[in-house]
Amino acid sequence: MNDAFGREITYLRLSVTDRCNLRCRYCMPEGGVEKRQHQEIASFEELEEMVQACVACGIRKVRVTGGEPLVRLGVVDFCRRIRRISGVEELCITTNGLLLAKYARDLKAAGVDRLNISLDTLCSGKYDSITRGGSLQQALDGLQAARDAGFRHTKLNTVLIGGFNDDEIPSLVELTRDEAISLRFIELMPIGECAGWDKSHFLPSQTVLERVPDLKPVGSDGVSFIYQIPGYQGTVGLISPISQHFCPSCNRIRITADGKLKPCLHSPSEIPLRGLHGAALQAAVAAAIRGKPMRHQLEGGNASGSLRNMNAIGG
Ligand code: 5AD
Ligand code: SF4
Repeated sequence: MNDAFGREITYLRLSVTDRCNLRCRYCMPEGGVEKRQHQEIASFEELEEMVQACVACGIRKVRVTGGEPLVRLGVVDFCRRIRRISGVEELCITTNGLLLAKYARDLKAAGVDRLNISLDTLCSGKYDSITRGGSLQQALDGLQAARDAGFRHTKLNTVLIGGFNDDEIPSLVELTRDEAISLRFIELMPIGECAGWDKSHFLPSQTVLERVPDLKPVGSDGVSFIYQIPGYQGTVGLISPISQHFCPSCNRIRITADGKLKPCLHSPSEIPLRGLHGAALQAAVAAAIRGKPMRHQLEGGNASGSLRNMNAIGG
C-alpha cells in the first residue's frame, strides 16, 4: 500500500534480536546491551504473525536483521517459515558473517535469497579494533562459506569512517575486480553510540569517487548510486543517507525485536504490535504505513531522532 506521500511500501526490515557477537564502536556500547528479559523479545510465532500482517498490507521483500540475527537460536527455521508465506517474494539477511561458516548452507536450504555482509576493513588489526575483538578471518571465512553454499550477488557493506577506513577505499574497491559482488559504502549516520563523534569521522560518500576516479556511474537502485570500474566484475554502491537522503524513494518499514513497528529509522515514532492479532494487527500496520514521516532531518549535523541504538533497529 501507499503511504500519505504516495510512496509504495513493499520492504520490511525485521530485527530478530538486539544482541550481537561483536561490539562495533559506532553501534554498540562497550559492555554490550543489557540482557533483556526473555519475554521482552517477541517470539518467532509473534514475529511471523506480524510479517503476515505486513504482507497483507503490501510488503513483498523481507530482510532479517539484528543486532546479529544469526545469534538468535532457531533463526534458520524462522527464515524457512517466513520464506513460505505467500506474498513474500524475497528474503534477505544482513549479517556480520561470523556465523556463516556454520549456517550458510542451512540458510540457503531454508530459502534465503541473498545475504548482505558487513565488512568495514581488510586489516585484521583494524577489524579487531573497530569491532572490539572480532576476527577478520572469521568474517572472510563466512563470506567464503556463503559462496560455497551457492549464494550469489552477495552485498558487502562498508561503513565509511573518516580516519579509520578511508585509506582503504582503493583496496576495498579492488574486491570487485574478479567477483560479481556489490560493495556498498554507507555514510556513517549520527545515531546512538556515534552520535557525538567528531565531525571528521563523518565523510560524504563522494569521497570514494575522489579516491578512485576510475569509477564510472552505471545506475541507481533507489538507495544507492552504483558505479563500476570498466572491466571489473562487481560494482560499487554509494549509500548517502546524509549527503543525498533517499527519503523520497523510501519503500521500507522496520519491526524491532521487541515488536515495535518503526515507520522511519530516524523518527522516535514506534507502534507496539505485540498483543494484536488478525484484523486489529493489520489495521495497526496500515495506520503506521499511512503515518510514515516524509523525511529525516540529519543534514547540518543533526543527530537522529531515533530512541534506539542501531543494534536495536537493525540498520
Ligand atoms: N551508520 C551507518 N551504518 C551503520 N550500521 C550500524 N551503525 C551504523 C551507523 N551509525 C550498519 C552496520 C551494518 C548494518 C546493520 O548497519 O555496519 O552494515
Ligand atoms: Fe554487531 Fe552490526 Fe552493531 Fe557491529 S554494527 S556491533 S556487527 S550489530
